[in-house]
This record gives sequence, structure tokens and C-alpha cells, in this order.
Amino acid sequence: MTERETWATRVGFLVAAIGSAVGLGNLWQFPFKTAANGGAGFVVFYLVAVLLVGFPALLAEFVVGRRTHINAIDAFERLGHREWRFIGVVGVATGFWILSYYNVVGGWVMRYILGSATGAYFGDPAAYFGAVSSGPEAVLAQFLFLSVAVGIVALGIEDGIEKATKLMVPSIVILMIVLAAWVTTLDGAMAGYGYFLSPDLDVMLANAGSVVPFAVGQAFFTLSLGMAIMLTYSSYIDEDDDLPFDGGVIVVTNTLIGVLAGLVVFPILFANGIQPGAEGGASALFVATASGFAQLPFGRVLGVLFFAVVLIAALSSAISLLEVSVAYVTDNYGYSRPKLALGVGVGLFVLGLPSAMDTAWLTWFDTFAYSLFLPLSVLAMVVFVGWVLAADAVDELREGAGDLSRFGPLWLWVLRLVVPAGVLLTLVLGFQDLFLGSDPAAFAPF
Ligand code: PFF
Repeated sequence: MTERETWATRVGFLVAAIGSAVGLGNLWQFPFKTAANGGAGFVVFYLVAVLLVGFPALLAEFVVGRRTHINAIDAFERLGHREWRFIGVVGVATGFWILSYYNVVGGWVMRYILGSATGAYFGDPAAYFGAVSSGPEAVLAQFLFLSVAVGIVALGIEDGIEKATKLMVPSIVILMIVLAAWVTTLDGAMAGYGYFLSPDLDVMLANAGSVVPFAVGQAFFTLSLGMAIMLTYSSYIDEDDDLPFDGGVIVVTNTLIGVLAGLVVFPILFANGIQPGAEGGASALFVATASGFAQLPFGRVLGVLFFAVVLIAALSSAISLLEVSVAYVTDNYGYSRPKLALGVGVGLFVLGLPSAMDTAWLTWFDTFAYSLFLPLSVLAMVVFVGWVLAADAVDELREGAGDLSRFGPLWLWVLRLVVPAGVLLTLVLGFQDLFLGSDPAAFAPF
């Protein structure tokens, strides 16, 4: 078998992990969920969830990946715990499931770049969404998006993923800052900032029950947890990397990009008198932001830029998920990477067909991912790392960690108690929300 690849540089790992984290979750779901859950109050819950639940769980995946230097499924065996292998299987399967419809949305974004350039949706944004979001055109767009992702992964860790994300991530940051600066000039932008940034404590507490599951689910999704991605990426790094520091950089950058997305989207909506949250389900922000661009001076340029950032972010996330399955087969069978990437791509394309043909399927896929698969997958991982790997996990975290290594024991206890409590609460509340009333469309971000 050929030697396993590694990242060429430490920055390479960081940038690729940020590329994975920053995606449709930040640019699309986060503003939409904020809107669907009443604005700034949701942002507070989300930030708490990222810090208390997401960040410790991210480090748990890192520890397993770096300790074993192997794919997510075989990692548990290498640790001497073959019976926990199912966690890897669940992670890989969850990732595959999510990527199948993520590609479809990636395809929509491609269409919206074109639509912005030509002004195709300016006349009737809702009708345009209806026309491009499902059916043969959506299948074609899904195919194109997936092909680009497959092409990058086929080139390998260093020449494909690392090089691509080193270009993509800085572009996302720069373009988002440009867009955020631009929208400050819009009349009425202030109302958007207010909606996004000033929470009403009473409303927040009254809605906590329904908001918490969204906030925790969103924290997992946005940090690419529970899909074996972070485990796989960290299996390509060296022992001298500082895991808590790297994790912190990833979490902070990812959160900032989400906040920037809100600072772009809400002023655009408010400046155009569009009520956030009024539009539910699949079309949510696609129709709302497109309506905004249709009314603005330079709307075409703004639209192309906005959807281009979304596309780059979605692509750098999709490649990370593709890599998870490719890593498993490469580690075990040593087939050529391009062939494998292609094979996985075909599987994804087929699984994504229902979502591309009908957005109701997409919503269904997404609802299951959010309310069930992701929380369960993360729960199994943190219980394993916290209670089974335990002291070994702390040792691994401390390796190369410098000053931050003194937080090891604290991290372990958060992982053992706080994270499972947060996930269980999310599962229970999510179930309640899903099966005992409430609006199921609100549960699905698309
Ligand atoms: N963190 C990613 C996001 O926020 O979009 C989650 C993700 C989804 C990563 C789908 C990869 C992927 F294929």
C-alpha cells in the first residue's frame, strides 16, 4: 500500500478545516434559522451551544483522528475498541446522507449566480425558485456541483484539498467583508442590525424550549461534527500540532463568518421591507435575498458576489465530506483516488436524486439529519472519548498543546457531562417539536 498522505503545512490543515466548517450552514441556514426563531435571541443560544457543546465535541474528533492517523471507521479498532466501530460507520453514513442533498442546494447556488448575472429572477423571485429548485434542471445543476467537488478530491490531500482551500477560504473572508461593508450603505440597514443583534430577553426565555434544539443542531452542523469529517482531517496531521489552539481558531473563524452572513443578509432584507421568517421551508432565504437584490441598485453585482461566496463555501465543505468516504476506501484497499472519488460521487448523485426532483424530499432528508442522525452521532462520539478513552484522550489533547494543555481535565469533564446533557436535551426537545406539534417546516432549514 502506498504511504498515507499528510497535510503539507499546519496552516493547510487549519484552512481545510475552516473550509469544511464554513459552508451553507453559515451563509444560509444560520441567517434563516435566526429569522425563523425570532432573531437575536437565537444568536445568543447558538453562541452558547458552539462554545459549550460544539467546541469540546470538535476536540473529541480531533483527538481520535490524530491519535490513530486512519479513517473514521478503522480508527476505533486501532484504539483497541473494535466494538465502538459503529460510531465511525454512523458518522460516515450521516455525512453521506447530508452530502446527498447538500449537493442539490450547491446546484441551486450555481443557478443563482447565473440568475443574478442575467437578472433572471428579478421579475418574480418566488417563481424563479420554483423553476430551478427541483426537476431536471436541478438534477443537472447538482451534477455540475458534484463534479467540481469530485475533481478537487481526486487530486489528493495536498494537491487537491489543501491547495483549493488555501484559495477558497481567504476569498470567502474577503468577499464577506466587502459585502458587509457594502450593505452598511443601504437605507434601512439599521433595522436589520437591530433584529440580528439585540435580543429581547423575555422572548428568548419564553421560546427556549423550541430554540435550543435548533441552536445545538446548528452548532454541530456548522462545525462539521458528527459526520466524521473533523476526525478524518485530523488524521492527516502531526503530533506537534496544538489541537486546542487549532480548534479555537476554527471555531472563532467559523462563528465570525456566520455573524458576517447575518450582517449581510438582514440589512438587505430590512432595507427592502422584506420580513425575515415570513417565507418558510425550502425557499426561505433564496427567495428573500433574491427579492432584495432585485430591488437594489447594482443588485446584479451584489447578487453575483453573494452567491459566489456561498458557492465557494459550499464547495469547500462538500470536498471535506467526500474525503471521508474516500479515506476509508483508500486506507483499506489502496484503489486510485480519482476512481474512488468518482465512485463515491456516483453514489451521492443517485442518493441525491429524490431531493433534486422534489424539495419535499430534501426537507425530509435534512430534518432527519438534524433532529436525529447528527445528535446521535455526536453523542456516541463524546461518550466514547469522554468515558472510554478518558485519560488517553487528555494525553492526546495535551500533546503539542503548550500552555493550553492545562485545560485538559476541564475539557474531559465538559465532554463527559455538559455535552451529553446538551445533546440529550436537544434530542428530546427536537422530538417533541417534530412529532408533537409545532410547524415541521420550521424544523427544516431549506
Ligand atoms: N459545516 C458545514 C456547513 O456549515 O455547511 C457542514 C457540512 C455540510 C460540511 C455538508 C460538509 C458537507 F458536505
